[in-house]
Amino acid sequence: MNSSTCVLSGMRPTGKLHLGHLHGVLKNWVNLQHEYKCYFFVADWHALTTEYDNTGVIAQSVWDMVVDWLAVGINPGEATLFIQSKVPEHAELHLLLSMSTPLSWLERIPTYKDQQQKLQNKDLSTYGFLGYPLLQSADILVYKAGLVPVGEDQVAHVEFTRELARRFNHIYGREADFEDKVKEAIRKMGKKNAKLYKELRKRYQEQGDDEGLERAKALVDNQQNISLGDKKRLLGYLEGQNKTILPEPEALLTETAKMPGLDGQKMSKSYQNTIALREPPNIIEKKLRTMPTDPARIRRTDPGDPEKCPVWQFHQIYSKDDIKTWVQNGCRSAEIGCVDCKQPIIEAVLTELTPIRERALNYIEEPESVRAILSEGCEQARVTARETLEEVRQVMGLFYR
Ligand code: TRP
Ligand code: SF4
Repeated sequence: MNSSTCVLSGMRPTGKLHLGHLHGVLKNWVNLQHEYKCYFFVADWHALTTEYDNTGVIAQSVWDMVVDWLAVGINPGEATLFIQSKVPEHAELHLLLSMSTPLSWLERIPTYKDQQQKLQNKDLSTYGFLGYPLLQSADILVYKAGLVPVGEDQVAHVEFTRELARRFNHIYGREADFEDKVKEAIRKMGKKNAKLYKELRKRYQEQGDDEGLERAKALVDNQQNISLGDKKRLLGYLEGQNKTILPEPEALLTETAKMPGLDGQKMSKSYQNTIALREPPNIIEKKLRTMPTDPARIRRTDPGDPEKCPVWQFHQIYSKDDIKTWVQNGCRSAEIGCVDCKQPIIEAVLTELTPIRERALNYIEEPESVRAILSEGCEQARVTARETLEEVRQVMGLFYR
């Protein structure tokens, strides 16, 4: 477990999840939870930015989504699961950051105009919608997350978060006697380490040597006799800033669109081409049996081309090499029919989803256990979020006695 790096990701509550979520996002989360301290949360405030006039759908969607997370194996013993609006510190940080966020930074984020275009039936010329990425930044920075797993469309938001953090540190990271304190902290490392620290810092600052930077950071992290405050100063000094209050996160790009929909387009609720994780077996079978194939195969004896068939895309996800060869040869020579070809897919999807569905149904029967998981997650999250806010208020001069 890489305990020093924390991973954070959120999902807007869109209701029951489907195979696209499983193969895109969720399997990734399940793996990350073994390796890092993970925070996964339901971004219900983010849903409000587009559903402010249709809020009735949100609560059930939140519930369905969390049940599906648990059913696929997100483990509340490993990861912290919570609902954004139950941790009001996100909102406070959002507000505080908004004071120093240039409007132009928000206006030029590509998703702002794109989404307004796409969702033309909604009036999105709102303050909340413009601030969407800023709220996301607050989500990330309030936990000082190091890694943020996101899809391609969200990378710009993480980049924006980095810029905000840098600006924040620049404005509020000053300490009157910073240089003196740094010198003192360097001295405390002992002669040998102090010399190495200075050398590595110089290599990074003068030659852009990233490895030097990493080594210096590790060196600081490993110091035993140095206070946390001094460690932060030493880390800040390395990168030429003063104190790092809000560390810059990195995007961890999730491969998207691996999972095709039933029609071969990206699997998405808006295309109505999904298989829900909780889909009953008979519906799964029916959906797969009726999914389109290469249109050239009108009669059973017409040869086809797997490259033109969405079923083949499913085989690429679910089938081993021997089956794939069987499909390639059988389709092109018309030795197999599309019904035969789909059979292994039906079996594979059923095998994958049956246990997930069972676990989901169990959770639905025990709503109390889901509630307990969430409220415990919220509590845990708040501990960290509160600490960050204490620090942020402090450096912004908001302390009253
Ligand atoms: N904006 C993200 C999406 O639409 C959801 C989200 C909200 C998020 N806050 C986040 C993702 C923080 C990662 C980190 O998918
Ligand atoms: Fe598609 Fe398989 Fe039919 Fe070929 S045989 S068209 S790959 S379903």
